Amino acid sequence: MCGIVGYIGNRKVYPLLIKGLKRLEYRGYDSAGVAILNGGLEVFKKQGKVSELEDFVAAAKPHGTVGIGHTRWATHGEPNDANAHPHQSSNGDLAIIHNGIIENYSALKQDLLNKGHVFQSETDSEVLIHFIEEIQKMHDCDLEEAVRLALTKVVGAYAIIVISKQDPHQLIAARKGSPLVIGIGKDKNEFFIASDATPIIEYTNEVVYLNDNEIALLTQNELKIKSIEDVPTTPYIQILDMELQSIEKGGYDYFMLKEIFEQPNSIRDAMRGRLLARKNHVQLGGIHKYLQNLIDAPRIIIIGCGTSWHAGLVAEYIIEDVARIPVEVEYASEFRYRNPVINKGDAVIAISQSGETADTLAALELAKSHGATIYGVCNVVGSSIARASHEGAYIHAGPEIGVASTKAFTAQVVVLSLMGLMLAKHRKTISEHQLSEILLELERIPEKVEKALKSNAQIEYIADIFKDARNFLYLGRGYNFPVALEGALKLKEISYIHAEGYPAAEMKHGPIALIDEEMPVVVIATRDSSYDKIVSNIQEVKARKGKVIAIVSEGDTLIPTMVDHVIEVPMTHEMLMPLLSVIPLQLLSYHIALMRGCNVDQPRNLAKSVTVE
Ligand code: M6R
Repeated sequence: MCGIVGYIGNRKVYPLLIKGLKRLEYRGYDSAGVAILNGGLEVFKKQGKVSELEDFVAAAKPHGTVGIGHTRWATHGEPNDANAHPHQSSNGDLAIIHNGIIENYSALKQDLLNKGHVFQSETDSEVLIHFIEEIQKMHDCDLEEAVRLALTKVVGAYAIIVISKQDPHQLIAARKGSPLVIGIGKDKNEFFIASDATPIIEYTNEVVYLNDNEIALLTQNELKIKSIEDVPTTPYIQILDMELQSIEKGGYDYFMLKEIFEQPNSIRDAMRGRLLARKNHVQLGGIHKYLQNLIDAPRIIIIGCGTSWHAGLVAEYIIEDVARIPVEVEYASEFRYRNPVINKGDAVIAISQSGETADTLAALELAKSHGATIYGVCNVVGSSIARASHEGAYIHAGPEIGVASTKAFTAQVVVLSLMGLMLAKHRKTISEHQLSEILLELERIPEKVEKALKSNAQIEYIADIFKDARNFLYLGRGYNFPVALEGALKLKEISYIHAEGYPAAEMKHGPIALIDEEMPVVVIATRDSSYDKIVSNIQEVKARKGKVIAIVSEGDTLIPTMVDHVIEVPMTHEMLMPLLSVIPLQLLSYHIALMRGCNVDQPRNLAKSVTVE
């Protein structure tokens, strides 16, 4: 939610900020703005995408080598020019960009109004910069101290960068609950700072992840970090393992399509070094100290949101099936607010692509405070959830930029399958033969995904037939039920068509009333233990004239005689089928959205990383 970027050094800052904002645009695209120090303080901001800001600024050609930029996902105040960041203090000397929410902003604002401050926007962020200004005036202190003192009074989450006309050779940044990465320029005479590493990677791979409750003072040659309690800390420099090409479109029209087609490789990466099929063994290097806690856990609670929650549902089926540990899958947002029973000894698996989802992070902290052991399953290395977990396993899917999650889902399912199988082996709930069968099959999944992707043209053809539908129903049973939910989520988030996912057998308890000749029903009907049952469900839909698009196993001869359209996926072990059956659903939603003229990578109202409650 919101992307922020800053730079101090010798480069022309404006083009650097714009490039960085474009990389961060997946985090929000309601408005964008920059503030640049160049003798004075120049601020440009505009409702809409970064390209609209560029058009707006075109004539001004701002100069300067120190500046900040922001791309917004609106929380307080509608998306318009006034609410766009950066925000300035009353006297216009200070500017701030902010990602997060200042929860006590209205009390602070009232106090500042009483002191004569006038506000230009409805945002909580503007209140913070006025508050900093007020504190600096009251305490007659330098800007860094004013920021620090202000933050001791702030309730909520933030990643901020503050600049001042009076101190044009510094940036001040701070974080609590929202991420910030500082890039150290190659010659140590420039610094980059951003919400994630994507705006930084082409300049340097040396980074420092700011921790919660830390403030950084950046001048051209020096980075100083201290805690909010005013205790200096030593920056811990890490080397980024990320290629520039992984964050570019590489010839595809959209990141989403690129990411769908990357899946054979991202799945290989998720299992590399972990799946030792010849030895009939699984090892997850990130889980060793707390491995026994997981093996002995009386219960596993899985938390996540959206697609990550769907991957969690697949994991529930796998872990209960092979490792025989009771599993509960919880929406992180519900879990954290409903006084759940969490016992010491419970294991919690927190699943998050971004590793920054506020609800998942808060649910994790709650579970931790009750003595549970936390295992993070994240994509973004060094992210808040990864760091807050006791141990975990990265999914290694590479940067996922399209707002609709695709390759992260399959990589999550791979890692969670490996986790389930590892537990089953340790707990001796699976025979060596069964284990070997599944591991060998898992090894073949990337080539089978490649094969599933070959249906792209056929799926495009089907998309054209159904692109104007107003509703869709997705049905699946067993391991394919979470895939039905995931297919429906993909369609609604990028094409804005209402879609619902259901367990196929539940249809008769209500949704069947929706079916008529207008209703496309996507049925995931691959060959598995509930095949005969799902065939009956298809007949129930057809009897009511629903239009059925069936996802079937290669070579199925029965279902094609019953339905309107079939899309084949290769055969695999039942447990691994979600890795294949989800592929046509991702492609179907992509093509339908494209044909409806939607922005596939940046669907309306959404952001990639949801760092607010
Ligand atoms: O980064 P996370 O995996 O924690 O994100 C969770 C959800 O916000 C995310 O999966 C969202 O539902 C996606 N847009 C789905 O495509």
